[in-house]
Amino acid sequence: MGQPKQRVLTGTRPSGKPHLGNYLGAYQPAIELQKSYELFFFLADYHALNEPFTPKEITDQSLDLTATMLACGLNTEQGFFYTQSGVPDVCELAWMLACQAPFGMLSRAHSFKDAQAKGNEVNAGVFNYPVLMAADILLYDAHLVPVGQDQKQHLEIARDLGQRFNNRYGDMFKIPEPMISQAVAIVPGLDGEKMSKSKGNVIPIFATDKEWKKAVMAIKTDSKGLDDAKDPDACIIYNLFRLLAPAEKVQEMAAKLRGRGYGYGHAKLELLAVIQEKFGPMRDKYLDFMGRPDDLRDVLRAGSQKTRAVAQAKMARIRAAVGTVF
Ligand code: ADP
Ligand code: TRP
Repeated sequence: MGQPKQRVLTGTRPSGKPHLGNYLGAYQPAIELQKSYELFFFLADYHALNEPFTPKEITDQSLDLTATMLACGLNTEQGFFYTQSGVPDVCELAWMLACQAPFGMLSRAHSFKDAQAKGNEVNAGVFNYPVLMAADILLYDAHLVPVGQDQKQHLEIARDLGQRFNNRYGDMFKIPEPMISQAVAIVPGLDGEKMSKSKGNVIPIFATDKEWKKAVMAIKTDSKGLDDAKDPDACIIYNLFRLLAPAEKVQEMAAKLRGRGYGYGHAKLELLAVIQEKFGPMRDKYLDFMGRPDDLRDVLRAGSQKTRAVAQAKMARIRAAVGTVF
């Protein structure tokens, strides 16, 4: 028997149509990690309730994300794939952690400050966002948490809350480490800013050929003409291409951009081709899953049930540690 596998945990909000930034920054790395770690991957649907989605949107987006993960190659038998709401015990732990969370620390969280800066009426869900996220992680004693750069502060809060709890009640939680891949830290969108649903600058993971083409053709370029030498690093098309294409093709494109007789239009067609090649076969699987919503629900139910057994065993120990009687 070898060593038990280390536990990696990550969550993603079902908050809209998944895009290449999500795939390259979150989904693909998680699926890759599944080969060497025990993976916990969940839909943060309670976190999504912070936003003004309709109930139908919450449902549709959850099923879409499930079909996406399955099509991208997540092995749901091997690891733990579930919804936050399917393991509601996490809210119990979030309450206990909230009782350790200083007001000052939570009011310094970017998620809270951004909501406040936008002039939104800030609800307690936004304020407590990092506490629920800490519970998501600590409940399963995750060793490693792959997240984007934007979530780093939330990870620090999770570590802090875990330590506070351990100091007060004895060693209960593993203190997690963030895992931030520098290579794809930020995937650029059509305008060169971070690709994000809220900015409307995305290339969807799964779309029709026409939609993909429309998105790729809309990538911003400078005014350099066919015969002007171009700087690949300053070219959004190239920066997306290098995340998707094999190394030698990437080098070829860089050389062509630096030379003459190769325009941005040519680069766009190459990017479109690599998107179609990579995501076309997965799209067939995605569409098949999307046509079977009951099967998608079954996958989520079975995964949540399996995960809940782990959560409940841990919660029993946590309750005993804090001294509640039941
Ligand atoms: P969005 O900004 O589109 O709303 P989310 O905040 O829901 O995306 O992000 C879900 C996951 O995808 C997170 O782990 C996040 O770090 C990752 N992610 C989102 N956009 C990008 C991007 N442009 N580059 C790299 N990772 C990203
Ligand atoms: N806050 C994360 C995001 O917006 C999603 C998330 C919720 C998460 N709970 C988590 C990520 C626990 C990692 C671990 O992207």
